[in-house]
Amino acid sequence: MERITTAKFLEKKRKGEKITVLTAYDFLTARIVDEAGVDGILVGDSLGMVVLGYSSTIPVTMEEMIHHTKAVVRGRRRALVIFDMPFLSYQTGTRDAVLNAGRALKETGCDAVKIEGGVEIAETIRALVNAGIPVVGHIGLQPQSVNVYGGYKLRGKTEEERKKLLEDARAVEEAGAFAVVLEKVPSELAREITESLSIPTIGIGAGRYCNGQVLVFHDLVGLFEEFKPKFVKRYAELGREAKSAVRKFIEEVKEGKFPDEEHSY
Ligand code: KIV
Ligand code: NA
Repeated sequence: MERITTAKFLEKKRKGEKITVLTAYDFLTARIVDEAGVDGILVGDSLGMVVLGYSSTIPVTMEEMIHHTKAVVRGRRRALVIFDMPFLSYQTGTRDAVLNAGRALKETGCDAVKIEGGVEIAETIRALVNAGIPVVGHIGLQPQSVNVYGGYKLRGKTEEERKKLLEDARAVEEAGAFAVVLEKVPSELAREITESLSIPTIGIGAGRYCNGQVLVFHDLVGLFEEFKPKFVKRYAELGREAKSAVRKFIEEVKEGKFPDEEHSY
């Protein structure tokens, strides 16, 4: 089976073919999304909230990211695996960024890393690419900066923010990123950014004009029920189904219906 490469992402944009990316944090989920045919698997630092129960992405460590990414790489056959660089693994300078991202590549077998930030992180993106590490940018809402912004609000609403986002997008592309995530920005601005770049934009809460879309797998299948942002579409209700299956099991054990002949030796 032919593997998806960074070049394929760029080719898809040129051909006007949409790019699909979903998160996965383990072997089984990676298998499911890979076999279903996504182009990219993002091992997002959202794993902090979704599988580790933290209240933000801030506490996530390199060790946790590496542990989960190794499992994802073992489950994928075709999709491009992107390692989400956790808080403090790249903000302290280009040397730290190269050492940590290089470690991610060496130890997990992932294909690329993602880092949050625009103009202010461009030099770091350049250093990573120069070291041979493919980079996905991430602008708009940057969850690792939640404590500076004071929330997860929509970005790019004011004229000043709009200009800054266009500058960020340009800086990320010029620094050598092969794709950029646009999180929670108005559709029209995402369209303007998408048209102004030669690298693909991957939107989450950024409307239909992006070159691709990314969602958190657990949101998409209705497993993460803590909260649901407007941009999440639930294509299944697995959380509800799982709970009802468990209730059924409890009931049948109590009633002596399980295990029956069929499930015994
Ligand atoms: O951590 C994550 O899952 C992400 C995506 C939502 C873009 O960064
Ligand atoms: Na993330």
